[in-house]
Amino acid sequence: MDQNKFIDDLISQMTVEEKAAQMLQVPVSVVGMDAAREWARKGVGSFLNALGSEMEELQKVSCEESRLKVPVIFGIDAVHGHGLNRKATIFPSQLAMAASWNKDIAHKAAEVTATEVATDGIHWNFSPVLCLARDPRWGRTDETFGEDKYLAGELGAAMIEGYQGDDLSDDTSVLACAKHFIGYGEATGARDSYDTEITFRKIRDEFLPPFRKAIDAGCATVMSAYGSIDGTPLTVNKKALRGILRDEMGFDGVTVTDWDTVNALITRQRVCGNHGDASRLAADAGNDMIMCTMEYYDAVIEEVKSGRLDEAVLDEAVRHILTVKCRLGVWEKPLKTGKPGSIGCDEHHEAALEAARGSVVLLKNDGILPLDPGKKIRKIAVIGPNADDIRAQYGDWTYFTHPVPGIEKEPERPYVTLLEGIREQTESTGIKVEYSYGCSVNRMGYYKGNFAGIPEFMEQCYKDNAHRYDSYKEMPYINEAAAMARSADIIILALGDNYNQHGEYNDRADLRLSGMQEALFRVLSTLHIPLITVLISSKPLAIPEVVKKSDAVICAFNGGMYGGRAVAETIFGKLNPSGRLPISFPYTTGQVPVYYNQFPGWHEGRYVDCPEKPLFAFGEGLSYTWYEYSDLKFDAASKTVSVNVKNTGDKAGTEVVQIYVEDVVSSVMTAVKNLAGFSRVELQPGESKEVSIRLDDEAFMITRPDETRVIEPGEFVIYAGHSSKDEDLLKVSVTL
Ligand code: GLC
Repeated sequence: MDQNKFIDDLISQMTVEEKAAQMLQVPVSVVGMDAAREWARKGVGSFLNALGSEMEELQKVSCEESRLKVPVIFGIDAVHGHGLNRKATIFPSQLAMAASWNKDIAHKAAEVTATEVATDGIHWNFSPVLCLARDPRWGRTDETFGEDKYLAGELGAAMIEGYQGDDLSDDTSVLACAKHFIGYGEATGARDSYDTEITFRKIRDEFLPPFRKAIDAGCATVMSAYGSIDGTPLTVNKKALRGILRDEMGFDGVTVTDWDTVNALITRQRVCGNHGDASRLAADAGNDMIMCTMEYYDAVIEEVKSGRLDEAVLDEAVRHILTVKCRLGVWEKPLKTGKPGSIGCDEHHEAALEAARGSVVLLKNDGILPLDPGKKIRKIAVIGPNADDIRAQYGDWTYFTHPVPGIEKEPERPYVTLLEGIREQTESTGIKVEYSYGCSVNRMGYYKGNFAGIPEFMEQCYKDNAHRYDSYKEMPYINEAAAMARSADIIILALGDNYNQHGEYNDRADLRLSGMQEALFRVLSTLHIPLITVLISSKPLAIPEVVKKSDAVICAFNGGMYGGRAVAETIFGKLNPSGRLPISFPYTTGQVPVYYNQFPGWHEGRYVDCPEKPLFAFGEGLSYTWYEYSDLKFDAASKTVSVNVKNTGDKAGTEVVQIYVEDVVSSVMTAVKNLAGFSRVELQPGESKEVSIRLDDEAFMITRPDETRVIEPGEFVIYAGHSSKDEDLLKVSVTL
């Protein structure tokens, strides 16, 4: 039967109660199975956070006991692997993956994740995040592709294509979800789910481009954000959800609210005084599916029956939902089948290792790296809280951080921490590797009662001193680490943050190393033993002293199940790092925002107590070889940039050629430069290649105060080079 006719017939049979239920997404982990069964009988549209037998039972009830027998769809957050299943393949976080600047890695990670999620029967993955992390204090920085709209759009589109494949009815294809629409990461003070004081002009200029690429890539669903724009919550922001997303961008898929945001209109944002108003405004603003606000059901039915809400609004939402269900083929196959036996298979693990390798960023190297085991290294001291803590390495949205029924919290092998990776690399070399914890990442008070990863003796210390824990209590452990390090030839120190310090509502006011980590670093740096610092963290941290006093600095962010192996391979030269920063590092917290594409301005380029430039810039990353750029050309007719890149070192390597565009004079202020293209190029020692990149019109556009997007004729500067820093770029002026 013709799909539209099928849907028309179904809607014509549905009562207003069944339409309201179809718009609801119910969290099984919250309501429990008894209530979930009842919702299935009512004809609920979707569940989230259900796995295994619970999911099978709920689909059976939906298909056999509801009046119209419309199958439900199941959603989950598998945002860097199917992380709520302890046997699944865990990839680097989006931020770490973004450091690879590799669309193939992003696509493969999504393809693997979709296969594993679908093998668990799930239809819908609430991924990718397309928010921009322009203030690293924000707790969800790790979930983003960093600070840049172009990089986020390119990698986000690649993930969407990886999740959805060629046909949503395929066994291993799942619905992707572009989130969170829109401007969510730009909230005042980087406060999660807070108000964002920006204009729609700024939204179109900075935050919309990744969503445009997502829609062009065919993304089936879009999630509206928790926060608000200048006082209007996104949940009821008709201009954003209908005016821009639907009418202008032509999005025809399903919109879904974020978790219980309809209720938040009353309890947090206080723009509604009751569920009737909240439900009516949310439906009217263009939300098709309502996540986790069960009060919506009765309230919206009453709004329709009272005549305050036109039932046609529900019909439109239900049509979007049923259309996506038809595309998934849920009537034919109520649960996804995926690829049996694929969860955690070798091929998937290999993909996670490749992603981890691409994500390693070498930020400083005074020549100490790569280590040569043959060079009189007798002992390596591995120190620090994050050297052997898989929770810190995994980061958010893995089974440590989000409760899903039936999922134990203990890690499942295989995974390789940094300490284990170093032991792998030094096996049968005769090099002695000793480990000392040194100190905790943060004060015990932040631990949510989970001591995993802490040596026995420290756990007891915490428990004995819980009532009066002070950081200084850790001095004995710092001294112990220093004593062990004294006899070492090399110190490898792993610092950063832990899962208590990122994620929703876990924003930070201070980006310095937390707990006693700075004290630990200072003690070790006074030993004057070659010191390699590895940052295993969810975000950039303010580490100027660490950078100054370390002989080498590696940024790994949350590298996933093989993050430790990839860093160890880099340290010992098995891997020539090609990672480039997707986000800038500040000298100090008070310096943020430090994203590279700032407006030109006064401020004289510095604070009285801090430079304006970041500690490390967007696009930065070293290699064990060097690259030279020459012959930059721009063909205005085809908007194609070409530049020659030569490997002038003695090791093969991969360079990430970056292209930026500056609009020299514009009727409204524009950034000093914006990323407009990039390309990874592999070069043997001495080899050179010409790289050509065609630029989109978007690269030359600005958004005028009336919110129109135009290319204003005039002078532009095209940059090509190794990072966003002027000193790393060739440039050519062109007139369009
Ligand atoms: C969360 C997040 C969103 C996630 C959703 C479902 O609060 O904001 O990213 O997909 O709820 O878990």
